[in-house]
Amino acid sequence: MTDLAGETCVLAYSGGLDTSVAVAWLRETYGLEVVTVTGDLGSVGELEAVRQKALRSGARRAVVLDAREPFVRYFVWPALQADALYQGRYPLATALGRPLLAKLLVDVAREEGAKYVAHGSTGKGNDQVRFDLGVAALAPDLKVIAPLRSGMSMTRDEEIEYAKARGIPVPVTKKSPYSVDENLWGRSIEAGILEDPWEAPPKDVYQWTVDPGDAPARPLEIVIAFREGIPVSLDGAASDGVTLIEKLNAIAGKHGVGRIDQIEDRLVGIKSREIYEAPAAVVLHTAHRAIEDLVLSKESLRLKQRIADEYAELVYNGLWFSAHHQDLAAYVASTQRFVTGEVRLRLHRGVASVVGRRSDNALYSISLATYGKGDTFDHKAAEGFIQVYGLSLRNQAKRQALWSGDAGIPLKLPSPGKKKRTK
Ligand code: ARG
Repeated sequence: MTDLAGETCVLAYSGGLDTSVAVAWLRETYGLEVVTVTGDLGSVGELEAVRQKALRSGARRAVVLDAREPFVRYFVWPALQADALYQGRYPLATALGRPLLAKLLVDVAREEGAKYVAHGSTGKGNDQVRFDLGVAALAPDLKVIAPLRSGMSMTRDEEIEYAKARGIPVPVTKKSPYSVDENLWGRSIEAGILEDPWEAPPKDVYQWTVDPGDAPARPLEIVIAFREGIPVSLDGAASDGVTLIEKLNAIAGKHGVGRIDQIEDRLVGIKSREIYEAPAAVVLHTAHRAIEDLVLSKESLRLKQRIADEYAELVYNGLWFSAHHQDLAAYVASTQRFVTGEVRLRLHRGVASVVGRRSDNALYSISLATYGKGDTFDHKAAEGFIQVYGLSLRNQAKRQALWSGDAGIPLKLPSPGKKKRTK
């Protein structure tokens, strides 16, 4: 026993073996009283069963919360509006969930008057950073304990032994060879055979998406409507965010859409191979970009893309509760005032293609764009435009003659007809 004995520690509890063992381990190692908190972000399943499991693992109190709605409203939608994809691809499902779980952890710690909080992340990943910094930003006085980083090192078999000896329920199903994290916005899968970046992911990696090769031969067309950058309906039926995402995960998953196979750079400096399944996220990011293309100016789109990368980076790196985030979010929110309209997509064998978009705020003008009748563009004015636009280039060409006549591309092309083609 230690000087922590009798103190309360609030543990982020998933219901899995690691965190169940951690309940007992925190009690036995430090003499802590453990209160667990489980936030359902769309994957926990039967909440009451998780609560009972926490209690059977030795928790003094077990809190379970359905956090799906706030997850979508305060985390998923802002990241979608920002077009935030880490290293251009990962929609950040896990990374967006952690700050919310950190917030729930802090809330329960305050309720309990606890000085300690704990989580089950290891010392090699990004999630430890997101938990630690989430708590640090919201409640700098709380101390974070991460058992898997500080002494609770057991193999899976040892954990099962440890659990059995204490009457903690152990999983009956065979352990998946992968490490998986899931919420509404996506499934993250790593480890096992996936650690070899040359190995194609085996079939059992995927649970939300069918193999594009086995997906229906006929494409499915869907329409998503956005209001100020937030998806509000699917095929004309208004929908709350949670339902819309659940529906899209099912529909797009059936068409094999949403698989991502990525080598990514963790914050701690490790390259890792990650598989993601994120059917709704892939469809919605594609659709959101499509409507932005229609309504935002070229300059907005250009800056917004840079902000998107920066935003994704800070979310990935655990800096959700930072001033930098508030500032970027304010910019993003402002850009979204025009992002209202509809996008038509075709889902087919692993691909979500945009096939149509419309908006009352569209900057697209058919009378300017058309090559057909009704053209209002002043073709003559183009000459003057190019005259001024090319002024400095023309000046440079005269003074500095950067390019010789053959432009550095000395081509001798056979003239047609002279030489016979060899078959
Ligand atoms: N690499 C992703 C991230 O850092 C996912 C990590 C998910 N954790 C897991 N146990 N698979 O956001």
